[in-house]
Amino acid sequence: MISENVKKILNEQINKEFYSAYLYLAMSAFFDNMGLYGFANWTKVQAREEVDHGMIIFDYLVDQNTNIELKQIDVPDTDFKSPMQVFEKILEHEKYVTSSIDAIAHLSLEECDLASLNFINWYLKEQIEEEKNTGDIITKLKLFGDEQASLYLINKELAKREYKKHEYS
Ligand code: FEO
Repeated sequence: MISENVKKILNEQINKEFYSAYLYLAMSAFFDNMGLYGFANWTKVQAREEVDHGMIIFDYLVDQNTNIELKQIDVPDTDFKSPMQVFEKILEHEKYVTSSIDAIAHLSLEECDLASLNFINWYLKEQIEEEKNTGDIITKLKLFGDEQASLYLINKELAKREYKKHEYS
């Protein structure tokens, strides 16, 4: 049976994942307005993955026959200035999400809720990938600079990202 405290923290994580989707959508709109459609695509695909992350936790809680407590989703801060600044915000945000996931794993262990510990393991791996992908883009932006020619090339690359439904495995 799922622990009460783990149930509570997982409910909070649903909110964080949907907030992440909102944040990425806001970023996508910013890039779209700049005419950086590849960057807009990348962040929009990420927004959809965040919805999947939220839904996977939702389904887990439903499968555990527990109640779902959906909370209000905050409005994201949209103080965006440049691709570099946005990707630095993304990295900062993903590190925050990683620390939330770490806290869930820690609490599950503390509460001897091994099913939830096993469940959250997938998210621990997912966060490594999310931080790596963001870090790689920051490296490219640093390497090639914020000039139009290099932005054009990075934009072209980010346009290739395709959404694939994130399945829990
Ligand atoms: Fe679902 Fe980007 O963490």
